Amino acid sequence: MSTFSILLALSITILLHLAQCRITDERTDINLVELELDQKAMKQKLSRFLVYWHDIPSGNAPSSIAIVKPVTKTGFGQVNMIDNLLTLGPELSSKTVGKAQGFYGFASQEELGLLMAMNFFFTTGKYNGSSITILGRNAVFDHVREMPVIGGSGLFRWARGYVQARTHDLDLKSGVASVEYTIYVMHY
Ligand SMILES: *[C@@H]1O[C@H](CO)[C@@H](O)[C@H](O)[C@H]1NC(C)=O
Repeated sequence: MSTFSILLALSITILLHLAQCRITDERTDINLVELELDQKAMKQKLSRFLVYWHDIPSGNAPSSIAIVKPVTKTGFGQVNMIDNLLTLGPELSSKTVGKAQGFYGFASQEELGLLMAMNFFFTTGKYNGSSITILGRNAVFDHVREMPVIGGSGLFRWARGYVQARTHDLDLKSGVASVEYTIYVMHY
C-alpha cells in the first residue's frame, strides 16, 4: 500500500468518526449558567391580604370533586380536585379575584386532617396571572390553621410565607364551606 492510500483510508476513518460524533449528542450534563444577582434591584416586600375560598363539593355545579374515594369510614384516603373560587368578601357573589386550583387529601386517620396542595391563581388587577403555591396541613376543625406558602409566580416570584385559614361558614350536610385565608407573603 502506498503512503497515499494509507492517508486516504485514515482520513475516511476520521471523517466517518466525526460524522458519527455529530449524530450522537455528546452532552453529559445540563448547561448551568450562573447569573448576576442585582441585590439592589431586588427589594423584598412583605404583603398581607385576605381572600375567601369557596369549596362546593355538592349540587349541580361542584367546584370540588372527589377523584379518589375514601378507604375508611372516617374519610381517610379521599382526594378532592378543586377549582374553587376566591373572592374578596365572604359571600360567593362578592368580587372574584381568582381561583384555588389543586387538590386536598384526607391524610389523617384520627381526625379531619387534610393535606392541601393548591395554587391561588389571581385573575384581577395588577396580580392578574400571578400565583402563589400553598402546601400544608389543614386540621379543618381547628379555629386557625397555618399552612406554608412555598413559592409563587409573576409578581409573587420567589414568594415565601404562610397563610392562616379560618372557617367562615361550613354546612356539614352539603359540605359547602367558605374559608377566610389571610396570606402573609414575602416576595420581590
Ligand atoms: C387578565 O389577563 C388575561 C390574559 O392576559 C386577560 O385576557 C384578562 O382580560 C385579564 N383580566 C383582567 C381583569 O385584567
